[in-house]
Amino acid sequence: MFTNKTFLITGIADENSLAMFVAKKIIKNGGKVICTGLGVSEFHQNLSDKAKQFLNQNYLDFQKSVKNELGEDTQTEILDVTLEDSVDAFAKKLKDNNIKIDGFLHAIAMDKTIRQKVVKPMLEVTKEEFCNTMEVSAYSLIRIAQYLYKYDLMQPKSSICSLSYIAAAKVTFHPYRNMSIAKAALERITIELADELGRKDGTRVNAIRFSTYMGSKAGTATLNQSDFDTADKLSPLGNATPDDLANEVIHLFRPNGRITGEIRHVDGGYNIMG
Ligand SMILES: NC(=O)c1ccc[n+]([C@@H]2O[C@H](COP(=O)([O-])OP(=O)(O)OC[C@H]3O[C@@H](n4cnc5c(N)ncnc54)[C@H](O)[C@@H]3O)[C@@H](O)[C@H]2O)c1
Repeated sequence: MFTNKTFLITGIADENSLAMFVAKKIIKNGGKVICTGLGVSEFHQNLSDKAKQFLNQNYLDFQKSVKNELGEDTQTEILDVTLEDSVDAFAKKLKDNNIKIDGFLHAIAMDKTIRQKVVKPMLEVTKEEFCNTMEVSAYSLIRIAQYLYKYDLMQPKSSICSLSYIAAAKVTFHPYRNMSIAKAALERITIELADELGRKDGTRVNAIRFSTYMGSKAGTATLNQSDFDTADKLSPLGNATPDDLANEVIHLFRPNGRITGEIRHVDGGYNIMG
């Protein structure tokens, strides 16, 4: 299905990242992937020792898991979406290597108001925390697309997909507050881009609201086992799995589709419940 197709996969932290399940399935269907991970780049300035250590460990885990799960020759690159120069340098490198892509997965989120499963009340969220979460988790979709187009890397009729959560629209039983707003913005950006890019070159842009998933670093940092179990019970089909999610992304990435601007649910039916 994906012969001669290359997809950019963002958001792999380790083998349990949702993006990893998508990357595996693209390869299984005959496509190629380029994976980006968070690490120390030449554009980082004044990093504390702790931050440097975190980023270095993150990049090691990322590279090791990609090589193990996707093969030694899978291309890996550093990308920090909060540093414009990092996104520019990454895109320029693809251009210099004559790489064109057929779409990308946005699987990036970070919210410092959620620490050890405790969510800060809205009334205590600072402007800096708000803007930071918005930049990493929502604006980054625009920024990545901007630079891929700037260097003419996107094939016409590409497909872009981002990962969201029902909290973008509804207050869930374990409210995310600040992050929910970023997800709402991510979904609106998806729709605006769907109109803009569809008319520009036939590129499709969609988002998927996925079930709660505890396997990833983001999942373990935010969810309790009881949250996962409650969502599982509330969902008519039970929680969807990363494999279900990957199947849907593959469907949206399939060449010549005509689905765009959709906010889909892959959540075992959780969203229909009152
Ligand atoms: N886990 C869940 O329950 C769940 C449910 C629905 C949607 N999602 C969404 O799926 C996506 C992937 O999450 P996951 O559960 O696989 O967790 P994960 O921790 O594996 O992935 C989050 C990724 O974001 C990356 N990231 C954070 N800041 C970044 C930055 N400045 N630049 C570049 N990358 C950065 C991290 O390195 C990591 O790879 C996220 O958007 C998340 O909100 C997760």
